[in-house]
Amino acid sequence: MASGCFVTVEGGEGAGKTTQLAFMRAYLEQAGRRVTPTREPGGTPLGEEIRALLLGHRHDGMALATETLLMFAARAEHLERVIRPALATGHWVLCDRFTDATYAYQGGGRGLPAQRIAILEDWAQGTLRPDLTLVFDLPVEMGLERVGRRGAADRFEREEKAFFERIRAVYLDRARRHPDRYRIVNADRPVEAVRAEVETILAGWLERC
Ligand code: TMP
Repeated sequence: MASGCFVTVEGGEGAGKTTQLAFMRAYLEQAGRRVTPTREPGGTPLGEEIRALLLGHRHDGMALATETLLMFAARAEHLERVIRPALATGHWVLCDRFTDATYAYQGGGRGLPAQRIAILEDWAQGTLRPDLTLVFDLPVEMGLERVGRRGAADRFEREEKAFFERIRAVYLDRARRHPDRYRIVNADRPVEAVRAEVETILAGWLERC
């Protein structure tokens, strides 16, 4: 059986990932594809416990190395139990954030050198990389305003604007350097316009996976 397609969705806070992921899943299922929707950090029972440690406020002063290694600990579990088995049985894996988020948040946001992340990426993933990564892009202030309306901020959402500007810059830089794998989607538009663009992108990938 052919391997499925590994699609990841990235972006700053409040970019509308969750809404678009639901549309993406419905679109792919209507096209007859089997879909495994999942997220990071998380996606497994152990990974969700790690997510709670990472996003909650019980460990606010967590060291950057700890934060990064926990992201990869959750990722290793996720790869082993969910992502690799799903791809091997021909499922499309739709993942809400993946290793690009580590480059953007721990790398760009917090200043961890990208070479360190690359070592962990190679170790945890081997040669596995997403086939397609959608970067939902919108001005930082707009995203933070949307997030602000949702209620209590998690450990990342509480950061200052400059942190999110650095994150945005890393996502855009990575996307521009590898246009074969990444698509930048302007998320500063009505939901239906974003949806139409995303579905056009996915239509192009239906022939490949
Ligand atoms: P979200 O998926 O609901 O946006 O929340 C996940 C948060 O975790 C988000 O603020 C980004 C952050 N994150 C990292 O800092 N590094 C990572 O590798 C991943 C996957 C997420």
